[in-house]
Amino acid sequence: NNPLSPVIAIDGPSASGKGSVAERVATHFGFHYLDSGAIYRLLAYAAAQQAVAWSNADALADIATQMQIKFEHGQAYLNGEQVSHHIRTEEMGKGASEVAVHPAVRTALLQTQRNFRQAPGLVGDGRDIGSVIFPDAGLKIFLTAAVETRAKRRYDQLIQRGDHADYALILADLQQRDLRDSQRAVAPLKQLPDAVLLDTTDINIEQAVNIIIEAFKKAAQTK
Ligand code: DC
Repeated sequence: NNPLSPVIAIDGPSASGKGSVAERVATHFGFHYLDSGAIYRLLAYAAAQQAVAWSNADALADIATQMQIKFEHGQAYLNGEQVSHHIRTEEMGKGASEVAVHPAVRTALLQTQRNFRQAPGLVGDGRDIGSVIFPDAGLKIFLTAAVETRAKRRYDQLIQRGDHADYALILADLQQRDLRDSQRAVAPLKQLPDAVLLDTTDINIEQAVNIIIEAFKKAAQTK
């Protein structure tokens, strides 16, 4: 674990395309990738499996400390079991947003996330990567898009996957999650003064990736 490895922090609201963008930037530089939302989703899923309520902060913090998580070839594992499909649901997105409001849960997951910082570098995406997890990140991006655009993208994604999808429901759900993620007391989603705003309403993933790659090269030069 090299504390000096560079970090690119990509924070933003749900369905802004953070995941796809962050993964591609990581691949470009040969960096590790931290999908912090997946960790909260794994916790929500683990709690549901054990019939622990998403409101039970103490029990959730215990599970957070005990659960074994692993990411390999884009798949997520909980206690050795591959559970990617289970955590990518709208239900677990909602659960993740609910378990994430508890300060004890966030504290329990802090070191887990910091451990991803390994040579030669890391791209992390989430809500508080640039503010709490890696405040010294060399580049901070606030990736966002209009909520209707994000709802449409999520809708298309679900349809493409062969899942059932209801645009109005997805939109309402995203609005509710935006509100919960940005208004909670601890580590709320917000654009930091030292973050670069990247609005993807009118640009595609490829363009967003290129902008971040260029911004990181420039930031590295001026260091
Ligand atoms: O990025 P995502 O949609 O997979 O994240 C799911 C939820 O997890 C999100 O609504 C809020 C929470 N989360 C968080 O609180 N902090 C993070 N760094 C990442 C996710």
